[in-house]
Amino acid sequence: MKLAIIGTGYVGLVTGACFAELGHQVLCVDNDTAKVELLRSGGLPIYEPGLEGIVARNVQAGRLAFSSEIADAVAQAEVIFIAVPTPPLPDGSVDLSFIEGVAREIAAHLTAYRIVVDKSTVPVKTGEKVAETIRRYSKARVEFDVVSNPEFLREGFAVEDLMRPDRIVIGVQSPRPVLAMREIYAPLEAPMVVTDINSAELIKHAANSFLALKISYINAVAALCEASGANVQEVANGIGLDQRIGRRFLDAGIGFGGSCFPKDLSAFIKIAETLGYDFRLLKEVQQINAQQMDRFLRKIADTLWVIKDKRLGVLGLAFKQNTDDVRMSPAIELCRRLLAEGARLRVHDPRAMAKARALLPPGPTVEYVDERDAVAEGCDALVIATEWPEFKELDLERARRALTHPILFDGRNLFDREEMERLGWVYKSVGR
Ligand code: UGA
Repeated sequence: MKLAIIGTGYVGLVTGACFAELGHQVLCVDNDTAKVELLRSGGLPIYEPGLEGIVARNVQAGRLAFSSEIADAVAQAEVIFIAVPTPPLPDGSVDLSFIEGVAREIAAHLTAYRIVVDKSTVPVKTGEKVAETIRRYSKARVEFDVVSNPEFLREGFAVEDLMRPDRIVIGVQSPRPVLAMREIYAPLEAPMVVTDINSAELIKHAANSFLALKISYINAVAALCEASGANVQEVANGIGLDQRIGRRFLDAGIGFGGSCFPKDLSAFIKIAETLGYDFRLLKEVQQINAQQMDRFLRKIADTLWVIKDKRLGVLGLAFKQNTDDVRMSPAIELCRRLLAEGARLRVHDPRAMAKARALLPPGPTVEYVDERDAVAEGCDALVIATEWPEFKELDLERARRALTHPILFDGRNLFDREEMERLGWVYKSVGR
């Protein structure tokens, strides 16, 4: 099928590239001309495992192209996906101006029936507004359909999640666009939930909020484990094997971050408020998440006594593994808080160093260390802030020799506590 994706961020680019991989003819559009130029010259604006090969292969095969003109998308594609940012406003609600702008521009170029699909995460009832906007601004008075098709891609695993989804959600207001949507996803053979647009939009916010709730739940249980001498990983295994609960997203840590969960939780709370419901459960999820970072910092302060002028080696800056994304990263927040206490940092991340530089203060208080195993040199303690699997391969013997005293604060429970203690480390983790 002929498809267009408007917006080449994490979601738009991965979706466009994977649709091309499925055999569709895809045009990816972005108003950032520098980004379009970069993509046309074979570069990628983000790091996402597996994406580079897919983009290159499909550009080569003539199935994937890039443009900065929405007019091209409307002229060429039967189905146009909107995948533009929906950033938070200061009060936690969602800024829908990019969506509205794109809807107006699509309307201006419509000359024949098109399906306009919203992939961006939006408040319930946005589809209705998009349809109203297209109707209002379209001069040609042609028919069109608006569809909601939320994405469930995890950064770092986005290609995998798109190619092997648990489910595909399609929200429609009439049966007409369903066939085309089925055809797009047919090669994936995944279960498809076809519902009304409002339900589809709610599914997205409800899913992300539930996953965030799971993480806060296990982080609260971690506090109980610490107070009672239990082990949160054992507890997570024990409850997670119950298929009604499931083991995934029950890893205690320093709290969730990223460009989705914090923003989507605030948005969902705000949406609930506008609909007349006080979603206190989700407010508590936010509270627990904030406290989780406080508790971890307290652990560091309790062990080191005075943080001022201590040199700390921080492993991890990205908000999670397999990504270079540092937006709302708990690791960055941790660095900032340690710096505010007067610490000096030596930091390392396999992918996110360049993007972290823009967020952390410039100057000598933060040293960027390219080699993971060199981070501990001259430090008083090590801190693990991101769950990169390669941190498990840290050269512990070298780190031990480099540190004043072998102290490791493991914010992601990557190491075995008993083994670390046997090796002589002062080892503090979460909920164990
Ligand atoms: C999340 C959802 O998982 C995706 O399904 C959704 O499509 C996406 O948001 C979105 O709305 O676009 P993402 O933010 O990329 O994906 O990352 P996650 O893997 O969900 O991790 C989010 C945060 O939770 C990270 O900071 C991670 O370290 C933390 N986390 C995750 C935990 O602390 N414990 C866990 O058990 C799992």
